[in-house]
Amino acid sequence: MQQPDRPPMIVEEGVVLGSRPAGTADCTLLSLRSPRVAARVRPGQFVMARLLRRDFPYLGRPLSVADVDPADPEVLLLVFTAVGAGTRRLAEASPGDAVRLVGPLGNGFTIAPAAEHVLIAGGIGVAPFPLLARYIARLDPGAQRVCLLGAATRTGLHLAARLRALGVVVETATLDGSEGFRGNVVERLAAHGLHPGSRLYACGPDAMLAALARHLGPTSDTCQAALEAHMACGFGACNACVITVADPGESGGHHELACLQGPVFALGRVRWERTPPVCVAARPSGGP
Ligand SMILES: Cc1cc2nc3c(=O)[nH]c(=O)nc-3n(C[C@H](O)[C@H](O)[C@H](O)COP(=O)(O)OP(=O)(O)OC[C@H]3O[C@@H](n4cnc5c(N)ncnc54)[C@H](O)[C@@H]3O)c2cc1C
Ligand code: FES
Repeated sequence: MQQPDRPPMIVEEGVVLGSRPAGTADCTLLSLRSPRVAARVRPGQFVMARLLRRDFPYLGRPLSVADVDPADPEVLLLVFTAVGAGTRRLAEASPGDAVRLVGPLGNGFTIAPAAEHVLIAGGIGVAPFPLLARYIARLDPGAQRVCLLGAATRTGLHLAARLRALGVVVETATLDGSEGFRGNVVERLAAHGLHPGSRLYACGPDAMLAALARHLGPTSDTCQAALEAHMACGFGACNACVITVADPGESGGHHELACLQGPVFALGRVRWERTPPVCVAARPSGGP
C-alpha cells in the first residue's frame, strides 16, 4: 500500500497544564504543553493519547487536536467525552501529569476559498472544529463560517461558546428540542440550505455521516468527513481501522485505512454498507 507523503510522526510527552469539565455531559477539556506536536498539527489531524502514570490501558486513544492556543503556540487542546477505560483515565489527568502523544497523525481537512464554510458536527464530532475554524479565518478571511451542531439533548452540544468566540455562527439542533432546532443535524442542514459555493466539513458518528451522504446525494463528493473509526495503533500497523471506499466508476470499492488515508475522506467515497461501523479486531472495547 502506498504511504501518503507526510512528515514523520512525533512521540512526545505532553505536560498537562489544565483539565476541566467542559460544562457539557461527561466532556473534558485537556490542555497540554506539547511543543513539537502543536507546531506541526493541522486541522482534522489527531494524536494517540495515553496517560503515562496509569498502567492500563497501554494503547493510546485517538483524539482530534481541538485547538492550538494562539497566545502560546506550544499548547494544544484535546476535548473528549469519557466513554470507556481510555478516555476515563485521560479525564483523571492532573496538572503536571505526562500524557504520551503520538502525532500529528492522519491527513486533515483541505481548506480552499468559498462563499461559506459549513461545519457539520454530531456530538463530540465537533472536537476538530475550533482549530479548523481558526485556519479558515486565516486562509479565507471574510468568508462566512457556520457550524451546525447537533446532539440528542442540550448537554451533548459541546464547544458552542468557543466556536462563537472565534466568530463562527453556531446553529444548534437537538433530537428532544431542548435547545435550538428540534431534529437531527442533517434536518438542520436541510433547513439552513446551501449556497452553490458552500464548502462542507463533517464529523460525527457513522450513522450521522451516512444520513448526511444520503441527503447530499451526488454532491456528497464535495463534503469532507472525518471518520471516528476504531483505532489501535494510529499509523498503519494493525489494520484495525479499515474502511471501504469507492472511486468513480469503481464497482465494489477497495479498502483504505482511516488512520493513514484518513481520517478525512470525501464523504461520497465511503461505502457505508461495506464498512463495519465498529471494527474491534485489534482493540476490543474496554481492551488494552
Ligand atoms: C481520528 C479520531 C479522532 C477522534 N477524536 C475524538 C475527540 O476529539 N474526542 C472524543 O471524545 N473522541 C474522539 N474519538 C473517539 C475516541 O477515540 C474513542 O471514544 C475512544 O478511543 C474510546 O476509547 P475508550 O477506551 O475510552 O473506550 P472503549 O472502552 O474502547 O469503548 C467504549 C465505547 O465507545 C465506543 N467507541 C470506542 N472507540 C470508538 C470510536 N473511535 N468511534 C466510535 N465509538 C467508539 C465503543 O464501541 C464502546 O461502545 C476519535 C476517534 C478517531 C478515530
Ligand atoms: S489504527 Fe492501526 S492501521 Fe489504522
